[in-house]
Amino acid sequence: MSATPREGVPGGSRYGEAVFRPEQAGEGERIDFGALAYDDITMARLRALGVGPGWRCLDVGAGTGTVSRRLLDEAGVASVLAVDRDVRFLSARPVPGLDMLEADITAPDFAPGRFRLVHARFVLMHLPEHDRLITALAELVAPGGVLVLSDAVDLTSDRTPDTPYTTLMRAMWQGLRATIGTDISWVPSYPQLLRGAGFGSVAAEIHVPPLLPGSPISRFWADTWERSRAAMLGTGLVDDAAVDAAVRYLDSDQCAALSAGMLTAWGWKPEEGAR
Ligand SMILES: C[S@@+](CC[C@H](N)C(=O)[O-])C[C@H]1O[C@@H](n2cnc3c(N)ncnc32)[C@H](O)[C@@H]1O
Repeated sequence: MSATPREGVPGGSRYGEAVFRPEQAGEGERIDFGALAYDDITMARLRALGVGPGWRCLDVGAGTGTVSRRLLDEAGVASVLAVDRDVRFLSARPVPGLDMLEADITAPDFAPGRFRLVHARFVLMHLPEHDRLITALAELVAPGGVLVLSDAVDLTSDRTPDTPYTTLMRAMWQGLRATIGTDISWVPSYPQLLRGAGFGSVAAEIHVPPLLPGSPISRFWADTWERSRAAMLGTGLVDDAAVDAAVRYLDSDQCAALSAGMLTAWGWKPEEGAR
């Protein structure tokens, strides 16, 4: 897939092109490490929101489809449409009730129907047109349905002591922003953005998995750094030795750092005729 120049993204590339290419060996496993770290939290929230039998669901940027499949297997929903710009991981693990659509959710004509649940996890943060996309996703929620958005939040600040981990994370966010447009700075605004898109009973929560050697989240970050190494080096903030040192640090008992977490925000679309 060739890189398409994009407004406001100096590198002019997009997710799955310069970094996180699905055809690169191990990319499915990287996504699965993230899923292992967060799926239980996501499923607990979706179940608490009442997602269950009878629900038609849309999972946007579904990746390897772990949430899509758990919605069917554990929550017993009626159907899930899993959408991704590359469905190779989804089609490798089909299950009854799981429909797949290979599509770019930023396309102006992306309109696969209306759903009681619309869910997007770790997708919008990579797409600079997030404002327009929240409005577009809002259109896909049926009256009385719920939009659930999860993305990364980094809770470190300029007072957080430097560690090999914090140094790498700073370079990673900066490098991804320059290369593909990833931007997590607006993620804490999700509740207001949902309210602005017409949703009611809006709320949000944050989960931060502990960085323990060998844990799914630690392996996820190590893999993510490996795949974004060129983007990080391009910032001039780190060199190869710093990347290698951070990977070793993450896998050691010396590690004492706060992972980036997952903010999940949700809002309900008013029933038709309701104010
Ligand atoms: C970090 S993965 C998250 C996967 C899954 N939602 C999860 O949380 O496990 C991001 C996914 O979004 C997909 N994606 C990125 N940009 C997209 C776009 N414009 N349209 C559709 N899917 C996109 C990628 O292909 C990838 O599978």
